[in-house]
Amino acid sequence: MNAVRGLLAAWIAASAATSLAWANPAEAPRAMVATVHPLATEAALNAMREGGNAIDGAVAAALTLGVVDGFNSGLGGGCFLLIRTADGQFYAIDGRETAPAAATRDMYVRDGKPQTEWSKTGPLASGVPGALAAYELAVKEHGQRDLADLLRPAAEIAEQGFVLSNVYSQRLASTAAKLAQFEGSRAIFLKPEGQPYHEGETLRQADLAKTYRAIAEHGTNWFYRGPFAQQVAAWMAEHGGILTAKDFADYHPVRREPLVTQYRDYTIVGFPPPSSGGVHVAQILAMLERFDLKQLHEEDPAQFIHVTAEAMKLAFADRAFWLGDPGFARVPRGLIDRQYTQALSQKIDPARANRVKRHGTPPNHADEVFRHTTHIAAADAQGNWVAITATINTTFGSKVVVPGTGVVLNNEMDDFAIMPGVPNAFGLVGAEANAVAPGKRPLSSMSPTIVLRDKQPVMTVGAAGGPKIITQATLAIINHLDLGLSLHDAVAAPRFHHQWSPDELVVEHTMDEAIQARLREFGHTVREESSAGVTQAIAVGQAGELIGVHDPRVPGKTAGF
Ligand code: GLY
Repeated sequence: MNAVRGLLAAWIAASAATSLAWANPAEAPRAMVATVHPLATEAALNAMREGGNAIDGAVAAALTLGVVDGFNSGLGGGCFLLIRTADGQFYAIDGRETAPAAATRDMYVRDGKPQTEWSKTGPLASGVPGALAAYELAVKEHGQRDLADLLRPAAEIAEQGFVLSNVYSQRLASTAAKLAQFEGSRAIFLKPEGQPYHEGETLRQADLAKTYRAIAEHGTNWFYRGPFAQQVAAWMAEHGGILTAKDFADYHPVRREPLVTQYRDYTIVGFPPPSSGGVHVAQILAMLERFDLKQLHEEDPAQFIHVTAEAMKLAFADRAFWLGDPGFARVPRGLIDRQYTQALSQKIDPARANRVKRHGTPPNHADEVFRHTTHIAAADAQGNWVAITATINTTFGSKVVVPGTGVVLNNEMDDFAIMPGVPNAFGLVGAEANAVAPGKRPLSSMSPTIVLRDKQPVMTVGAAGGPKIITQATLAIINHLDLGLSLHDAVAAPRFHHQWSPDELVVEHTMDEAIQARLREFGHTVREESSAGVTQAIAVGQAGELIGVHDPRVPGKTAGF
């Protein structure tokens, strides 16, 4: 028992060490925003102070992140928005990219071999960007400001420039060689002599400023049905790409039915397919319901981790087989059926890591269907809550900026299963449900989530980090609502992640060695990583105040008024 108490102390100490280094929780009565960049958080607060609501604020933040955090998200990418409006209604807006009309199932296969780089870098890597259309719809239907008024301040930052952080300069350095292959990207992100910009230097993006201003002036048709689409299409045609102006013209954001499940006393509202996030956050929580997680954690933190990781593993085995764009694949609603998740939960052996050979078989799977990234959390006193996860996929997406546009194009085609069993950039494998097809949306892990108790929002959470998005969102919910940690400590606590394939338990390096050793005794192959993603969250405090937290692992800003 003493050894176990030692493990608990070590777990708490690791959380505290993270907190001390980076603490930045904020509390405010009327508005709260958490993002990974101070300029984005400030843009959101300005939009809200000037008559906007949380929806306007979150979109202002997203547009600003496209300028100051453009390696993660931007107009060249996609997003999911989960919105709770002041009247208690929920809306899920799908701005996920779509595969071009000329995409084919085997477009990344030559002579029977997967060409894994083609879906990641260059002209074949991009789907039609959806973020702008989704932001427009969100603001028009649920905001109080004009999209143009949210675009202009971001254009100003693009033109005046901003000082590069350590995070930005590291990401730039790690992708500089690939960015250098494309004239448009080279001209923006590398100096004339070919070196990337460094921390502390100012990055100006004049073309991006022009693009933002042109959209503000002429509307989103300028992007989807005008000069932007034509310029991208011309470049693609010259460089072996298949994206056409018609692909842009055909793009539309999709309103989806939010995924609502029960977890203990809470209602979990998540994003449905083509996000896998909502389904698997719900599945993991449902599998864990039979365990007293707080007691388990207090008695033996390693066993708490083991049991939770086993639930993650079972969920990810289902993800690899069943999940895809519901417009193309039959994603069974039975995946979140209570009896099914309870049966899955019975496969969890509290004492031993289970070898999960294959996915499960949910009920009615034949006929009933559902139809690297950044996260923004925003809420206001009127009761509007917004969770936006936006992405161009991996760092600087496809690495392509079509000259003159300033917009980094996504490499979201890599989120498809380019060939059965061939892992993507995140090591994820997929099956027929997520094969490439024209006009199809690649499966995503983005998990914007809002949690209610007695119909009132108590928490919103979401994350960046590929498949680790799902496990981060789940852990933040468990840590805060089950273990009773403060929101900050819930986000700061050392994380762990299991995605079934590869069969390994990833733990953050802050996790105590003794806990890792005990996890090996349970039969896990444990692998340390320096950091498992970036989470932003907002919760309601005891006195009804809004408490916001950005992930202490990276710089960011949380503020309110
Ligand atoms: N591009 C990462 C995801 O959507 O899951």
